[in-house]
Amino acid sequence: MSRKKVTILDIQKRKQNNIPITMLTAYDFTAAILVDQADIDIILVGDSLGMVMLGYSGTTQVTMDEMIHHCKAVARGTTAAFLVGDMPFMSYQADVAEAVRNAGRFLKEAGMDCVKVEGGREIADTVRAIVRAGIPVMGHIGLTPQTVSQLGGYRIQGKTAASAQALLQDALALQEAGCFSLVLEAVPAPVATYISQQLTIATIGIGAGVGCDGQVLVYHDMLGLYDRLQPRFVKEYGPIGEKIVTAVQTYADEVRRREFPAEEHTYPMNEAEEVAFLAAVAGR
Ligand code: KIV
Repeated sequence: MSRKKVTILDIQKRKQNNIPITMLTAYDFTAAILVDQADIDIILVGDSLGMVMLGYSGTTQVTMDEMIHHCKAVARGTTAAFLVGDMPFMSYQADVAEAVRNAGRFLKEAGMDCVKVEGGREIADTVRAIVRAGIPVMGHIGLTPQTVSQLGGYRIQGKTAASAQALLQDALALQEAGCFSLVLEAVPAPVATYISQQLTIATIGIGAGVGCDGQVLVYHDMLGLYDRLQPRFVKEYGPIGEKIVTAVQTYADEVRRREFPAEEHTYPMNEAEEVAFLAAVAGR
């Protein structure tokens, strides 16, 4: 039986009823079908696609057009999961009107249900404007990969009392600005738990401990498909990457030994067809 479309109200209800929310990234049609079949609540088309799909060194190079292209493919493969489109670096930071227009493209052109933006109090006015346009917004604080240069690297955030307090202020400001949920990335578990308890909107943790209202991982990380960056918070659920390499090696070996394609993978001719064919080519 196909499940019902997950809505923003379902996400709010899960927070109220203390039911953990599941979120995973997907960046293409086939992955979206598989993740949706696995009953994940939310699919994030994250700008992490810049690294795992496009081979960039980080997320800052990702463009609006690249995001829209991947979001469209994911939307075509999804029937039930709530869809989040990640706004790329510089698509919302420079100008509020431009931010609203770019957010609109995620819903209008790409079939997303909401957008995600990175940043704290400094982007509250932008969030307010996007929400006012009728577009739900998921916030993202803690380790924000788009500003990794400013943060001095991919490092845990909110470790000192002052920085933890600043994170709480950011979370409250984003909630007040209208975010319906918030990603907390690479934040000590006690800080993330406390922030989750202070908010009425759902928190989705990645490297933020079990006290968040939900969890998110990157598809390629949890399946062992990408090994260039392996943060402590990643749990690998299936070494699919190794399986792919073994399968491809086996295919190549069979081709070299002329064992593939076998008869069952080949279109045959009956004897009469073959005789007619040979006669035709002999008369050329
Ligand atoms: O782009 C992404 O995949 C993300 C998650 C790490 C939350 O923002």
